[in-house]
Amino acid sequence: MTQSTMIHHSPAWQRLAAHATEMRDVHLKSLFAEYPGRSARFTRRGVGLTLDLSKHRWRDETLAMLLELAREADLERAIARLQDGERVNLSEDRPALHTALRLPPEASLVVEGEDVVPDVHETLARMQAMVEKCHAGQWRGATGRPITDVVNLGVGGSDLGPLMVTHALADYRPREVHQVDIHFASTMDGSQLADYLTRFNPATTLFVLSSKSFTTIDTLSNASTARDWLMTRLADGDQDTEMSELVMRQHFIGVSAKPEKMSEWGIDPRHQLRFWEWVGGRYSLWGAIGLPIALAVGMDNFRELLAGAHDMDRHFRETPLEDNLPVLLALAGIWNVNFLDVRAHSILPYDGRLEYFASYLEQLEMESNGKSVTNSGEITPYSTCPVLWGQLGPNAQHAFYQLLHQGTQAVECDFIAPVRRYDRVEDPATRAHLKAQHRLTLANCVAQSRVLMLGDEALPSDVPRPSHKRYRGNQPSTTLLLDRLTPRSLGALIALYEHKVFVQATLWDINPFDQWGVELGKQIASETEQILASRRGAETLDDSSRGLLDVVWQAQDGT
Ligand code: F6P
Repeated sequence: MTQSTMIHHSPAWQRLAAHATEMRDVHLKSLFAEYPGRSARFTRRGVGLTLDLSKHRWRDETLAMLLELAREADLERAIARLQDGERVNLSEDRPALHTALRLPPEASLVVEGEDVVPDVHETLARMQAMVEKCHAGQWRGATGRPITDVVNLGVGGSDLGPLMVTHALADYRPREVHQVDIHFASTMDGSQLADYLTRFNPATTLFVLSSKSFTTIDTLSNASTARDWLMTRLADGDQDTEMSELVMRQHFIGVSAKPEKMSEWGIDPRHQLRFWEWVGGRYSLWGAIGLPIALAVGMDNFRELLAGAHDMDRHFRETPLEDNLPVLLALAGIWNVNFLDVRAHSILPYDGRLEYFASYLEQLEMESNGKSVTNSGEITPYSTCPVLWGQLGPNAQHAFYQLLHQGTQAVECDFIAPVRRYDRVEDPATRAHLKAQHRLTLANCVAQSRVLMLGDEALPSDVPRPSHKRYRGNQPSTTLLLDRLTPRSLGALIALYEHKVFVQATLWDINPFDQWGVELGKQIASETEQILASRRGAETLDDSSRGLLDVVWQAQDGT
C-alpha cells in the first residue's frame, strides 16, 4: 500500500474527518435530546450479549460512514481470510487460527493442505484424560500421594487468559471430584512462586510449565526454581536417580509449540501438550494453554467456553456489518481514537469474578494493536491502539473515577455486567442479601455511565453547582450486558474482544498477531544481566544505567 492508497486518504475517512469537526462540540446529552428511542437505535443483541452503543458521540450518519470505511478496508473479506486460515500474520508469514481451536469435532478446516481440526480435538482429548486423572485423585506425585495443588508457570498469554477465566468461572468448579487448587506464578522475580514454595507440600504439587516458545526467561527461571525445590525435598537433591525421574514425570506437565525444547528441559513426552505456531500467545487460552481452566472447572465447562467463542466466531463471519457486535464495538473505538481524539480506554466490569478481565484485555488489545507501522512498512499517519487499562468498576469508583468525572482526559469506557446472578445460592436469606448486592452493583453500573454521559444534567437544574462540584459529562461509553456469566457467555465475551481487535487492526492496516516491540527490551535485559553479574562492561552503558548499577553493587558490597 502506498501513502495515497492508505485508509486515511479513502473517501469515507475524509468524510468522517469533516463530519468529526461538527461532532466534536456536540454534547452527548443533546444527542439524546434529538429524538426519542436513541438507545434502541444503537443497541444490538446477539450471542447472549446486549451491546448498548448509544452513549457514543455519534449519529446514524456517523455509523453509516464508519461502515463505509469498513467496506473500503474490505473487512468482510479480511474476516473470511482470518477464519479460513490464510497467512494473515504477515511479518511471521503464518495464519492466526485461534478460531480453529473452538471448531466442533465434526468441522473440517484444511489449512495449507492439512485438516487442523483432528489435531485440535486430539489435544483436547489428551487434556481431558489429564483432567479426569487429577479429578479422580489418580494423578499421583512421586511419593504416591494424589496431587492437591497445581501451579501454572507462564507469563503473558501463557498466564493472563487462564488466570482470568479460572477466576471468572470459580462458581463452576465441579463438586463431586477430588479437589485440586489452581495457582498462577508469572513474575520473573519469583514473588508468587516463593510464597507457594513456603506453603505447599512438594509431594502433592504439580507444575504446568506453559510457554509457547519455551524460551521465556521469566517462566524458565520460575521452572528451574520449582524443579530444584522438588528435587531437594523429594529426590535427595537429584542424587536419587529413580526418584528424580519420577519427580520429572509426575510433577511437570509442559504446554508449548516446541516439543523438542520441552523434551530438552526434561518434560516426559507423555506429559507434553502441544499447540501450534499459528496460535498467537495472547489468543491461546482455547487449547492446551487452557489446561488450568479445565482443571479448575472440568472439561465439560471448558468445552462450553469453546462453544461460546465459536458462537461468536459464527456471528462475526455471518452477520451483516451493521449488526455485527465485534465490528460495531471496533468502529466505536475507531471513531473515538481517530476522529474525536479520545485516546484512553477504560475497562470496567461490574462483577467481581471479572477481576482480571482488564489485565487480560491490556495484553490482548495493546500487544496486538500497539503498532505504528502498516503491513507494508509505512509509518501510520494516524493513531492506533489507545492506552487501555481497567479495574473492577465498583472499586475503581473509589479510585480513578475522579479522573473520569472531573479530570482533563477524554476516556472511552466499557461497562460490563451480568443481568442475573446468585440464582443458585441455596440458603434463601444469603441469596436475598447477595441478590440485593447484585442489584446495588447494577444500579451503580447504570448510574455511572449516565453521569459520565450527562454530567451536571443528571441532577435537577436548581441544585447549586460550585465549580468544584461541576461535572462536564460527555465521556463516551459502551455498556455490555450478559444474561449470566457462564462458561458459554464468557467464551462469547472474550471472542467479541478478540474480533474487535482484528477489525481495528484491519482498518488501521496493522498486524495484530506479532509483537516485535517487546523483543529489544528482552535482548538489552539479557546483556544488562551479564554486566550486573560480572561487573564488567558497564562503561558501554549510558550514564543513568551505570549509576543505577553502581547503587546495586554498592548495596551488595555493604558500602
Ligand atoms: O514477550 C511477549 C510474549 O511473547 C507474549 O506475546 C507472550 O504471550 C508471552 O511473552 C509469553 O510467551 P511464551 O508463551 O512463549 O512463554
